[in-house]
Amino acid sequence: MNLIFLGPPGAGKGTQAKMLAEKLGVPQVSTGDLLRAAKQQKTSLGIEAEKFMSAGQLVPDELVIAMIRERLEKEDCQNGFILDGFPRTLPQAEALEKTLKDVGAIVDHVLDLEVDSEEVVKRLSGRRQCSACQENFHIDFKPSKKEVCDRCGAQLIQRDDDKESVIRKRLEVYRQQTKPLVGYYQDKALLKSIVGRGSINDIFQNVLKAVQ
Ligand code: AP5
Repeated sequence: MNLIFLGPPGAGKGTQAKMLAEKLGVPQVSTGDLLRAAKQQKTSLGIEAEKFMSAGQLVPDELVIAMIRERLEKEDCQNGFILDGFPRTLPQAEALEKTLKDVGAIVDHVLDLEVDSEEVVKRLSGRRQCSACQENFHIDFKPSKKEVCDRCGAQLIQRDDDKESVIRKRLEVYRQQTKPLVGYYQDKALLKSIVGRGSINDIFQNVLKAVQ
């Protein structure tokens, strides 16, 4: 099954995509994670992407499209994948459709997590991420038991783009460039809207219903 998670920054795309990937046995493909890994490895893509990411802007389409094409060609994606954070613009959605068409595949469902802006600011400004395994925590909603990552023991950090001014910029970019994809996938009868507020497990039950 080929799935897409849509929704504003902080809607819970990563959290739900990870849980669903485990349940379905297909990989979660997060463009944010791929770009952060490139940044950490100081590749030319990572150095270029960093400028846009720290300002809360989108990385140019051609860079992200080339990166995702390469990722989807890998063996582990051949039986399905869950996209988290891609596509984010109309040209990205069209490029994805073409890539899949070339190999006789389609998008099965698009899951749109709906969360309001103030909840997003609360979630992202309180998020802490493991500097080694990228596990997410939240100072109120999902605190770590100690001051370090519960999974691997590494230090927890705040992402550069989780500062309030950058979060608000990301929300504006979402409204202008990504929100139009809701209508795009609605017209293709692929969109399933899911309320993104409430407990992580309750939302996951609704995600499961939407894909069954
Ligand atoms: P990316 O990493 O994709 O960031 P994002 O979409 O802004 O997503 P987030 O990871 O912030 O939020 P999420 O919806 O995954 O929520 P999460 O589950 O983590 O992208 C970062 C940057 O990379 C972009 O700004 C851009 O520059 C670039 N980029 C990436 N993709 C690109 C593309 N396709 N094109 C161009 N540029 C691209 O949850 C957030 C927090 O809330 C966590 O602390 C979590 O524990 C908590 N939480 C989750 N669910 C709940 C709940 N139900 N209740 C309470 N708290 C919750």
